[in-house]
Amino acid sequence: MNSKIKKILSKKNKTKIICLTAYTKNFSEILDGYTDIILVGDSLGSVLYSFDSTKKVTLDMMIEHAKSVRQGIKKSLMVVDMPYNTYRNKNEALKNAKKIIKYTKADAVKLEGGKKIVNIIEHLRKNKINVMGHLGILPQSQKGKFRFKGKTNFERKNLLTDSKLLQKSGVFSIVLECIETKLTKKITQKLKIPTIGIGSSVNCDGQVLVTDDLIGLNLTTIKFVKRFQNIRKYIKLAIKKFSRDVKKNKYPSKKYSY
Ligand code: KIV
Repeated sequence: MNSKIKKILSKKNKTKIICLTAYTKNFSEILDGYTDIILVGDSLGSVLYSFDSTKKVTLDMMIEHAKSVRQGIKKSLMVVDMPYNTYRNKNEALKNAKKIIKYTKADAVKLEGGKKIVNIIEHLRKNKINVMGHLGILPQSQKGKFRFKGKTNFERKNLLTDSKLLQKSGVFSIVLECIETKLTKKITQKLKIPTIGIGSSVNCDGQVLVTDDLIGLNLTTIKFVKRFQNIRKYIKLAIKKFSRDVKKNKYPSKKYSY
């Protein structure tokens, strides 16, 4: 087993796992000192390209961004999202997962879904591909408004069953997106593998957020996103200084000229 994955597994019930998204090298370089997992999420479709759905993200887009992210990582585990319609059956999933790993040197891929994709995950695992699961809100199959999961008995039963099935199929960890607090606790306690929450309370073994959201670069109003910094303020300050110096003929001074 990949030593980075062993390390992630060993954190269960000991220390929280820190996971963040990166879409480029400059970001992964900064994150790597503080993260256990760096996720090249297909959220890049909405965050960078203003797509109305992650369904429009292609395999080539994921590979190009992941190649950039790879260059900034020294220690974190790198996971790449398999985009929509790239894992509809076992053979398609294996071919595309291999392509992602070959070109990006990712440590693992992430797939959205429960029992419907268990046979696909088992096939990837048989072929030595590390897989992260994703349950709860599944942006690739989301229809209509986003609503938290675990409201009804039916949903609760299915999510618990799905999480156990994913563990059995060999995923090393599961992202739980927008799952009700008590159910999240139950799932996390029942599993041997770590759960990574996004909008799913503190009852997870780790947390993930979209980095652009938490630094205030991407302006989102999603309830679970806490804006830890307003990076736009610092960018604006730098741009203002540049503009002022250019207009005053102060930049480029002799120091910056040949
Ligand atoms: O695409 C993504 O960034 C994700 C995380 C938000 C979990 O799947």
